[in-house]
Amino acid sequence: MSSPLLQLIGVSKSFPAGDARIEVLRDAHLALERGSSTAIMGPSGSGKSTILNLIGTLDRPDAGSILFEGKDLSTLNPTAQAEFRNRSLGFIFQSHHLLPHCTVLENTLVPCLAGADRLEDEVLERARRLLDRVGLGHRLDHLPARLSGGERQRVAVVRSLIRSPALVLADEPTGALDRASAAEVTRLLLELQSELATTLLVVTHSPELAGRMSRVLRMEDGKLVPDDGLGRKSASPT
Ligand SMILES: Nc1ncnc2c1ncn2[C@@H]1O[C@H](COP(=O)(O)OP(=O)(O)OP(=O)(O)O)[C@@H](O)[C@H]1O
Ligand SMILES: [Mg+2]
Repeated sequence: MSSPLLQLIGVSKSFPAGDARIEVLRDAHLALERGSSTAIMGPSGSGKSTILNLIGTLDRPDAGSILFEGKDLSTLNPTAQAEFRNRSLGFIFQSHHLLPHCTVLENTLVPCLAGADRLEDEVLERARRLLDRVGLGHRLDHLPARLSGGERQRVAVVRSLIRSPALVLADEPTGALDRASAAEVTRLLLELQSELATTLLVVTHSPELAGRMSRVLRMEDGKLVPDDGLGRKSASPT
């Protein structure tokens, strides 16, 4: 069997809280197979975003390792970490974070502007094709202010996938949407994820979104445990 795309091995993380520290992650383990989709659920403050920040090299674990394609991310220098984020990761947030003065098409191309990449016709074509796929082909020149929340989030989905990253990290991607828009964004995200063979890790409070992933985990006492839908632990490994 091939090695997992991403592995967390015994990861711990605490933050200062007054004179004390809160331990958010305690010896957490996780393995993501290539092409898989995984949801992380859990109460507010349980450490879900903290995990995504550590994987995204936006913060460092106190202990343990995070391996991407077998390589420990903490051994990368800041330039290599930036390169890793840019090449290998796509991010989707609860709030779309689109640039207000850039059009729909320009927004999806933002990840291609970092580094020395020229904007090849191929990339433009890919952006147009993906926007078409998510039903926004006729709105390429619109500014985000003219889109609905669900439409903006569809742009954010395309932006996260524009460079075909190996791993997409999504933090409550449907958290700000009504039910119908959330279902639509979820459908599109999963369709494109499967077509592009991307690995997807989604943090969500939504049982509907989590239920569409191939695996659901819960944050519990600083660890990731399999979720059986009832908030109880089960025996299978993470
Ligand atoms: N940079 C930081 N400095 C201090 N405390 C932090 C920092 N980042 C997170 N925390 C604390 O760590 C805990 C976990 O935060 P985190 O954002 O990971 O929770 P979450 O599970 O994503 O919650 P939510 O569902 O509300 O988004 C919280 O108590 C938070 O206050
Ligand atoms: Mg969070």
